[in-house]
Amino acid sequence: MNKISQLISLLGGTGAVAEKLKIQPSAISNWKKVNKVPNNKHQAVLELSSQLNVNIENFLPTKNFVNFKLKILLIISGGIASYKSLEIIRLIKKTDIELDVVMTKSAQKFISPLLVTSLNEKKCYVDLFSVEDETKMNHINLARSPDIILVAPATANLMAKLANGLADDLASTILLASFSKIILAPSMNPVMWNNLATRENYKKLLDRGIEFIEPDTGDMACGENGTGRFPDPNSIFELILSNIKENQILSNQFKDISILITAGPTIEAIDPIRFVSNNSSGKQGFEIASELTKRGAKVTLISGPVSIPFPNCENIIQVKTAQEMLDSVSQQLPSDILICSAAVADWKLIPKTKSNNKIDTNTKIKKTNEKLLFETLKNPDILETISKSNLRPKIVIGFSAETDNLKKNAYSKLISKNVDLIVANDVSNGKVFGADYNKVCLVEKNNFEQWEIQSKKSVAFNLVNKINDLLTNYNQRDIYAK
Ligand code: CTP
Repeated sequence: MNKISQLISLLGGTGAVAEKLKIQPSAISNWKKVNKVPNNKHQAVLELSSQLNVNIENFLPTKNFVNFKLKILLIISGGIASYKSLEIIRLIKKTDIELDVVMTKSAQKFISPLLVTSLNEKKCYVDLFSVEDETKMNHINLARSPDIILVAPATANLMAKLANGLADDLASTILLASFSKIILAPSMNPVMWNNLATRENYKKLLDRGIEFIEPDTGDMACGENGTGRFPDPNSIFELILSNIKENQILSNQFKDISILITAGPTIEAIDPIRFVSNNSSGKQGFEIASELTKRGAKVTLISGPVSIPFPNCENIIQVKTAQEMLDSVSQQLPSDILICSAAVADWKLIPKTKSNNKIDTNTKIKKTNEKLLFETLKNPDILETISKSNLRPKIVIGFSAETDNLKKNAYSKLISKNVDLIVANDVSNGKVFGADYNKVCLVEKNNFEQWEIQSKKSVAFNLVNKINDLLTNYNQRDIYAK
């Protein structure tokens, strides 16, 4: 009897396990045959064993599983506490979290990359200018792929670099090029920690959304006493795990909620060659679609023509014109929430000349000496049409790109289009289109919020929190109405 067959029999046999895990008995027979439980079923088997109070440690690695794929990048900077990061690696390795490690030059004075590589069973990255590393896993991938970047220990020097935007080595370049959650666990001499420069850097980083695991107070390796001691690696690990668990809770926040999002520009053809459109990149709408998907929503993204990669979401529909976008949105109704972030072309342009009122637009319009004129034909307003229809979703959110009178214009769209919330931004001087950062304000009937400039990813994260509040309020209103 192989190990997995013994395990299944301990848990009550093929039939009982199949029933408890809601899978076919043939799948369990297959596990026995190949003597392996698939990774995505480990957690379920562990839960079943703890329900039955059966110890299965000898049959299945009792790793601390997280319920979704998670990547952490650990950056070790150079200080007396660098060696303690080895314990963090060991603790992370007991989970199914994917871990990459980067070391600064000074960290390598305290511990060797070889030691880190053997502990993590994976190459440790140290060099920004390594031709080999750049071809396999370049620094942008290292910056973009992790869910969390943990800097432990974070020295005063590394904090200063990050606060001031310096990128002169692999670690600082990654930190600057990342949109991931960054958590710093500083460790330094108490006088350095209390130095005004470090205090100011700390505050700057906090204001930019960087999180800190505060240093402990007590006796330091340098013989002094005060705040700056590296926290116990176990408590750092526990904090990271609770951070992950928080994310897991968030990942069910919008379970069973259907959301329609329009994004990107729309285009209107003038003839088979030419068209009119606008500068929208689709980035903000895509980030919102991605964040809502992470939180468990069933997202349908209806996008105009864009040149950025599509986000991970349940359904993507590509359209070109305003009419196609409206038709698609209408076909996807009913939905719980509608978010119109698309920059819809407001008009179709009908070409004409003084002598020809009906130019054939099925073939290319040829240049003549006559002035080419355009008649405008207004496109349907998708947001307004849906929010005033009897299929209006519970929550309707619009965007408002303005070059002047931001608040006033956004408020009048809120009222005239019958929406719950307008996300408004100032797009004068081409400040927003295509950029990774956005400064928005939220306009509601009885509320106005001005948000700090932040990455579009961060706007999406905070906006989704706001949408959750709106949905909770809606559902409460609904209960009271009954
Ligand atoms: N919108 C839409 N359909 C349109 C035009 C706009 O769904 N034909 C939506 C946009 O997706 C956005 C909101 O309406 O959520 C406001 O769009 P915006 O272009 O800022 O304003 P307009 O209503 O077009 O008014 P104006 O261009 O005069 O500012």
